[in-house]
This record gives sequence, C-alpha cells and structure tokens, in this order.
Amino acid sequence: MEQNRRVGVIGSGTMGSGIAQVLAQKGYPVILNDVLPDALDRAAQGIEKSLQRLVKKGSLGEEQVPPILERISRTTKLEAVRECQFVIEAVSEDVEMKRKLFAHLDELTSPDTILATNTSSISITEIAAATKRPDKVIGMHFMNPVPIMKLVEIIRGLATSDETFEMTEKLAKDLDKTPVAVNDYPGFVSNRVLMPMINEAVYCLMEGVATKEDIDTVMKLGMNHPMGPLTLADFIGLDVCLDILNVLYDGLGDPKYRPCPLLIKMVKAKRLGKKTGQGFYDYAE
Ligand code: CAA
Repeated sequence: MEQNRRVGVIGSGTMGSGIAQVLAQKGYPVILNDVLPDALDRAAQGIEKSLQRLVKKGSLGEEQVPPILERISRTTKLEAVRECQFVIEAVSEDVEMKRKLFAHLDELTSPDTILATNTSSISITEIAAATKRPDKVIGMHFMNPVPIMKLVEIIRGLATSDETFEMTEKLAKDLDKTPVAVNDYPGFVSNRVLMPMINEAVYCLMEGVATKEDIDTVMKLGMNHPMGPLTLADFIGLDVCLDILNVLYDGLGDPKYRPCPLLIKMVKAKRLGKKTGQGFYDYAE
C-alpha cells in the first residue's frame, strides 16, 4: 500500500464518485472505472462541484482543486485497476453483478490486493465466496454524501483476515473517516437501525398519522436529525430503501422488517425520490 498508493474504484455513481473524491483529496491516485462513459463524465462534474462547495466553505484552497482532479483517472476498462493494491467496488446493489465482478477482479489483480465492497446490505461473505481470496475481501460502507459524512462501517466477512481489516481501517482513518467494526449480518448496523425507522415513517404516512411534512418535522426538531426520514428516504432512493428492507426481512426472517405497502407502491410507480424528480416530495425544477 505504501509503495503503490493507487486505489481502484469501480462504479462512478454517487457513492463511487464520492469515494474517488475523498481518496484524491488525501493524495491517493485513483483509477475510477465505470462501464458507461457518460457516468464517468457525470462523476467528474459532480466531484468538481463538490470540491467547489468545499472551497466556498473555506475547507479547501482553490489551488488544491486541479491536482485533486488530476489524481483521478477515468476509464471504462476494468483492466486498468490491475496494478492497484486496494480496490473499492461501488456498483449497483445486485448480488450476481457483484459476485461476477469480484471473480473478475480476483483474476485480474495481484493476490495481495484487498477487494472492498461499498455494499449497503449484501453479504460480504457471499461476495467473498466468488473469489479465491475470501480473507482479502471486506465491506467498506461509506455514507452519502461521502465527502461530508464521517462514518465508514467496516464489515468483516466470515473469512476476512485481521490484516485485511487493519489495512482497511487504516485507509478509512487516512481519509479522516471514523471506522466502526461490524460483523456480517443483514443490513450491518447502519441500515438495520436506519431502515426500520424510515419504514415506520412511511407507515405513519400511509395510516394518516400525520402529513409527510409533519412526520419529518417531528424527527428534525424532536430528535435533531438533519433530515426527516421521508426526505432522507427520497435522498437515498426509495428503491434502495425497499431493497435493503427486503434483505432485512429475508435475512432475519422477522416480520418487523416487512416493507410498508406504500413504499412498495411508490417504487412500482417509479417515484424513487430525488433521482427521478419525485418521491414523497416533488423535486421537479
Ligand atoms: N460535497 C461537499 N460539501 C457538501 C456536500 C457534498 N456532496 N453536500 C453537502 N455539503 C456541505 C455544504 O456545502 C454545507 O456546508 P456549510 O455548512 O459549510 O455551508 C454543508 O455540507 C451542509 O449542506 P447544506 O447546507 O447544503 O444542507 P444541509 O445542512 O441540509 O446538509 C446534509 C446536507 C449534509 C446532506 C445533511 O442534510 C445530512 O447530514 N443529512 C443526512 C445524511 C444521511 O443520513 N446520510 C446517510 C444516508 S444512508 C447511507 O448513505 C447509507 C445507506 O446504505 C443507505
């Protein structure tokens, strides 16, 4: 890691681009890979915008922006991560896609390379089992927006070695994040606690306990949450919330995790939140 600080990031959506940004801010050369050239272009624009916010805030000098951007090489070729000693995957939450990708990365990279996943709920053990190095596979779960949120959940799969854990923890600390060690159970800690709260807020809305604005106000002003749960659900994506609730429901087998029918209906209607312009709230310009 010290001789070759290059880190590969696979997937250039919101999470992948945020991870690439914080790595580059801390001096790591980054290979940012995506199958879609458009996604790579959008990532570059998003990173620049985020860096400008940090400049405006005074936490970054204007002159630091160009070298940070230069540290991020964008590519549609997965082979470009071959030389990286650490790779962080942030593609869609699709278990088969992730298993295929990890099997490919296993072939491509040196046997010493640590393969981390930013999955928010898929089993690390199951992803690791697609490789011949399950001891070097680990969960590194960043929170959105990555440049602002301090937490990284570090999830050990069944076979993850102490050495892999320690290197991952060190990388998270180098990025000025606070790592928290978690074992591999559905939803880890973050989403096992967060998603039932969001789900319950949707039940409150469905049952007419209060309006969406009032449900959010209760949690913002009553519990000091920066966003109300329905706004947060829109921000995360209602499809993502539903997928995670299904992982909790299936993985833990407890009816308390059953997704609210209104959430299911919203997803069926493709009202997925901020990203589609409509969720519980309207985001149309
Ligand atoms: N890049 C750089 N700076 C950013 C930023 C970004 N992407 N997003 C926000 N900021 C900065 C702003 O510039 C602003 O800085 P100042 O305070 O110095 O002005 C600051 O962060 C606050 O932003 P805003 O004023 O625009 O808005 P806000 O006060 O509402 O904060 C927020 C935005 C930080 C997102 C805040 O609302 C928040 O913390 N929300 C909760 C986020 C959360 O819970 N995230 C976890 C989601 S769950 C997840 O990620 C995991 C999962 O598996 C589902």
